[in-house]
Amino acid sequence: MKTRIAVFVSGGGTNLQALIDFQRDGKLKDGEIVLVISSNPSAYALERAAKADIKSVTVAKKDCATQQEFEEKIISELEENGIEMIVLAGFMSILSADFTRRYEDRIINVHPSLIPSFCGKGMYGLRVHESALSYGVKVTGATVHFVNEIPDGGKIILQKSVRILQSDNAESLQKRVMKLAEWDILPRATQMVAKAIRMEKR
Ligand code: GAR
Repeated sequence: MKTRIAVFVSGGGTNLQALIDFQRDGKLKDGEIVLVISSNPSAYALERAAKADIKSVTVAKKDCATQQEFEEKIISELEENGIEMIVLAGFMSILSADFTRRYEDRIINVHPSLIPSFCGKGMYGLRVHESALSYGVKVTGATVHFVNEIPDGGKIILQKSVRILQSDNAESLQKRVMKLAEWDILPRATQMVAKAIRMEKR
């Protein structure tokens, strides 16, 4: 049986879309996206899931008294749906060590820089690109890595570099990193890990 995958989102969901397209094209050979979990009820990613006929649920942190309650709600959705692998695709909530240990080597994340540059706590979205530009690096990119208790600290699976242009601002750089790197390496890394999990089950 294919590895059952949940994708966690919070916003626009362009990385989710890349995964959906990859699956539609028959390239996600060893996995199946069966659930989308959003931390934000108005995330456009939810519409993308609906259009692709993928079940989705919202678990909002603000409706939970504690981190533990937030994660318990997520875990009950994962268990109900038999989820074996989690892809964080622009998911903006931090997950506790208890959560990441429970799914050790089963959670991957895409980050919009070449880790270990411009990563860690508080480094997400446009801020990452603003930091790269203000540092003055000439090359940036994206990284897909396993998720452990250290923000952006897990083992690296794939990376791809992107050149910074003199005319770039944070928005233009974010778009190019998504298009040239994230939408390419996230689906490929998802397939690689889904395959490894499927082989383990044999
Ligand atoms: C992506 O650029 C992703 O790499 C980034 O948020 C964006 C989400 O876009 N994630 C982080 O910064 C995590 N630290 P999307 O909702 O269109 O996929």
